[in-house]
Amino acid sequence: MKVSVIGCGYLGAVHAAAMAELGHDVVGIDVDENKVAMLASGKAPFFEPGLPEILTAGIGSGRLSFTTDMSAVKDAQIHFVAVGTPQKKGEYAADLTFVDAAIESLIPYLSDGDLVAGKSTVPVGTAARLATLIADSGSKALLAWNPEFLREGFAVQDTISPDRLVYGVPGGGEGEKAKELLDEVYAVALSSGTPLVVTDYATAELVKVSANAFLATKISFINAMAEIAESTGADVTRLADAIGFDARIGRRFLNAGVGFGGGCLPKDIRAFTARAEELGRGESVAFLKEVDAINLRRRQKVVDLVVESFGGDVFGKRVAVLGLAFKPDSDDIRDSPALDVAAKLKGLGADVIATDPEAISNAEKTHPQLVYTPDIAVALTGADAVVVVTEWKHFRDLVPADAAKLVKRAYVIDGRNCLDPVAWRSAGWEYRGLGRP
Ligand code: UDX
Repeated sequence: MKVSVIGCGYLGAVHAAAMAELGHDVVGIDVDENKVAMLASGKAPFFEPGLPEILTAGIGSGRLSFTTDMSAVKDAQIHFVAVGTPQKKGEYAADLTFVDAAIESLIPYLSDGDLVAGKSTVPVGTAARLATLIADSGSKALLAWNPEFLREGFAVQDTISPDRLVYGVPGGGEGEKAKELLDEVYAVALSSGTPLVVTDYATAELVKVSANAFLATKISFINAMAEIAESTGADVTRLADAIGFDARIGRRFLNAGVGFGGGCLPKDIRAFTARAEELGRGESVAFLKEVDAINLRRRQKVVDLVVESFGGDVFGKRVAVLGLAFKPDSDDIRDSPALDVAAKLKGLGADVIATDPEAISNAEKTHPQLVYTPDIAVALTGADAVVVVTEWKHFRDLVPADAAKLVKRAYVIDGRNCLDPVAWRSAGWEYRGLGRP
């Protein structure tokens, strides 16, 4: 099929390359000339395992191209809208400027029977409004809402073989037609048995935000248990193992630690709260404010543990911060708990040296006040405390006895509960986990 993807950020770039990998002819459109130039030369503008390979393959096959010229969409039959919906400055609500601008600039190039498939995460009610906008322009193009559930680090795999597909479509014949086109574009996934939910716009929009709200709640639930564990001497990691054996609960997303960050969970729960309040339903999701508050408390907890370890004053103490990305296998520092902890410690006067396998160049741009090194040994050398805040394999695989030789004081705070306390303690370290005795 001929496909266009509007917005080549994280979601759009992966989606465009993955659609080409599936055999479609794809043009990716973005207003950012630098990004387009990078993508067109087969380079990924961010770290994502597997993406450079499928970009190069797509471009080499002639099935994938990138441009800033919107008119390039006119041969395509399906137009995926994958622009960002960031949190508005100083507010909880999502900023829909980019979605609205994308639809408006797309409208003049739409042919009758084309399908506009929204992928961006939007407040419920947006798709219906955009469908009206398209119809009012006189266009006979269709609109579907087709949320994605990709995880950074697994984005290629999650796009090519998703664990479910969701189509939000209008009623009647238009809905049938939209479904047919989406079935064709996702034929490979559907033929391998990917579950499909076909529903209305509002449900499709809500599936996405409620999935992320549920995941955020699950993480904050276990972090709340970590707080109780800290006051009782219990071990939240064993508690998570034990409750996780109940298939109704499940062990995934029960890792207590410094909490969730990234470009999705924090902003999505806030936007959901704002939208529910607009709908007069604020009380229905009021618990998400608590989910957010628990999450932010855990960042502060790590900072407090460091400060406490120095008897209340961290000024001039050398603290090695291991991790900057919001999670491993990513260079994304958006709302990263790791970077937040590093910045807070620096703000308290600590001599912070931070390391991360992929995220340093992004962190340097937003946090120039911090000192960075790509070398873990350099970060550890002379440290008075070590804080692990992103569970990269590089840190999990550290040999505690070797690390002990480099530091000035063998004190480690495991903000992700990803180290083996027994191994670290027996190598002479004072070990502190979160919610662990
Ligand atoms: C998330 C959703 O998982 C994905 O389905 C959606 O499409 C986009 O948002 P992502 O932001 O890539 O994906 O990260 P995810 O793997 O969900 O992790 C989010 C945050 O939660 C990370 O900071 C991670 O470290 C943290 N986390 C995750 C925990 O603190 N504990 C856990 O048990 C799991």
